[in-house]
Amino acid sequence: MRFSQVSLILATGSAIIPHANAWGAVGHEVVATVAQMHLHPSVMPILCDILKYKGDCHLAPVAAWADKVRGLPQYRWTGPLHYIGATDDYPSETCAFPGEKGWEGRKNINVLSGIRNTTSVLEDYMDLRKAGLSTESDDDAAQVALKFLIHFVGDMHMPLHLTGRDRGGNGIKVSFDSRVTNLHSLWDGLLIAKRIRTIPSNYTRPLPLPEVESHLRGTIYDPYIRRVIWEGIMGKYEDELNSWLSCPAEPSVQTLQTNWEQWISWTFGRRIGSWIAGSRLTGGGLNTDDETLCPYHWATPIHALNCQIVFPKALDEPPYNRVSFSGTGEHACNSSNKAHDVHWLSRPRKNPYLELDTPQYSGVIEDSWIVEKLMSQGGIRLAAVLNWLFADMEDSTLPNRTYTL
Ligand SMILES: *[C@@H]1O[C@H](CO)[C@@H](O)[C@H](O)[C@H]1NC(C)=O
Ligand SMILES: *[C@@H]1O[C@H](CO)[C@@H](O)[C@H](O)[C@H]1NC(C)=O
Ligand SMILES: *[C@@H]1O[C@H](CO)[C@@H](O)[C@H](O)[C@H]1NC(C)=O
Ligand SMILES: *[C@@H]1O[C@H](CO)[C@@H](O)[C@H](O)[C@H]1NC(C)=O
Repeated sequence: MRFSQVSLILATGSAIIPHANAWGAVGHEVVATVAQMHLHPSVMPILCDILKYKGDCHLAPVAAWADKVRGLPQYRWTGPLHYIGATDDYPSETCAFPGEKGWEGRKNINVLSGIRNTTSVLEDYMDLRKAGLSTESDDDAAQVALKFLIHFVGDMHMPLHLTGRDRGGNGIKVSFDSRVTNLHSLWDGLLIAKRIRTIPSNYTRPLPLPEVESHLRGTIYDPYIRRVIWEGIMGKYEDELNSWLSCPAEPSVQTLQTNWEQWISWTFGRRIGSWIAGSRLTGGGLNTDDETLCPYHWATPIHALNCQIVFPKALDEPPYNRVSFSGTGEHACNSSNKAHDVHWLSRPRKNPYLELDTPQYSGVIEDSWIVEKLMSQGGIRLAAVLNWLFADMEDSTLPNRTYTL
C-alpha cells in the first residue's frame, strides 16, 4: 500500500476503504517495521541477503507473504501454523491456555511451535553458513523460514490467533459503525484502520528521528508507526521493554548450563534484555520455550485478552446469542473469503449484530492502547529474536544514536 492510497484515504475519509485483506496486512507490516528499527546494524544486511533483495530492502513487504501462499497446494499444510487453540477454550465464558484437555489440532503444528521451528531452522542455517557449508537449497529454506518467522511473531500478538473459538472469531458476525463484519476482521484490520483515520495531525510530519524515518516507506500507516514509537515505545512502554523480552528461568537449569552467552537487544541506543542461552522449558506442554525465546510465556497474557475484552459477554447473552453465525471456512485471515469485503463496502444499515464501535468496546481498546501495545511487543520481540539469531557477536558497536530518550 503506497502513497497513492494514503492520499485517497485522507481525501475521502472512510468513504473508500481498501479490501479488508489489505488491512490485515497492515498489522504485520507495522510489526515488521517496528522490528526493523530495533535491529543491530549487523543484522539487516544478512536479512536482506537471505530474503534475496536486490535494491531497497525492508521487512514489511514480506510480512504478509505467509497469508498469501497458504491457499497454494504446496503450502496448504502451513494453515494451522498461523494460530493455536486450547480444547477447553471458549472466551469469554472459559479461558484455557491450555486446560486439562490440552491443545486442539496436531501436536507441534501451531503458531508457537512455528516460531520455535523457524528459529531452529535459521539457527542451524547460520551455523552452516558461517562454516561456508550452506547450499542453495539451504538458502531457499532459510528464506522461507525467515518469512514465516516474521509472520508468526505478528500472528502471535493477535489475541484471536490464540483461540479456536469460532475459528478465531472468523465465524462471529458483529457490527462496526453499522457495517457487518466479523470479530477476526475487526481485530485484523478495522480497529487499526480507524486508528489510522483518526490519528493526530502532528504525525503526518516526519519525526526528528532519522532512526525512525529511514525505515518508513511512504505508506498509509507511516503516521501510525510514528505515534506507536513516539507515544508507545519511547513513551508509556519505555520502562516495560525489558520485561517484554524476559523468559522465566529455572535455577536448576542454569546450573546445568555449559554454554553461557549474553544476548542483548537495543532500542534507540539503549540496551534492553540480557539473555542467557539455556535449556528447553516445556511451555504449556508445547516444548517451545527456553530461557531465551519463550513464545508460550509471551502469548499467555495475550490470550487472556480474549476473556478480558476481545469477546464481549453480550455475544453469549440474548439477543445476540440467538443470531446465527455462518459456520464454514477456515480459521484466520482466509484470503479467499471475499464475503466480508462485500459487507464492509455495503451501505450502513440496521443489522442484527452486536455493535462494537462503542465507547465500551472500541473506545476502551483505543484508550488503553491495546492494539498498539500488541504491535509494539511484536516488533520488539521480533527484533530481539532476529538480533539473537543474526547479530555479529564480534561486532560490539551499538547503533549510532545521537539523541537520548
Ligand atoms: C477459505 O474459505 C472458503 C470458504 O469461505 C473455503 O472454501 C476455502 O477452502 C478456504 N481457503 C483456505 C485457504 O482455507
Ligand atoms: C519444522 O517443521 C517441519 C514440518 O513439520 C518439520 O519437517 C521440521 O523437522 C521442523 N523443524 C524443526 C527444526 O523442528
Ligand atoms: C502530537 O500531539 C499529541 C497530542 O495530541 C502529543 O501528545 C504528542 O507528543 C505529539 N507528538 C509529537 C511527535 O510532537
Ligand atoms: C556517530 O554519528 C556521529 C554524528 O553523526 C559521527 O560524528 C560519528 O562519527 C558516528 N560514529 C560512528 C562510530 O559511526
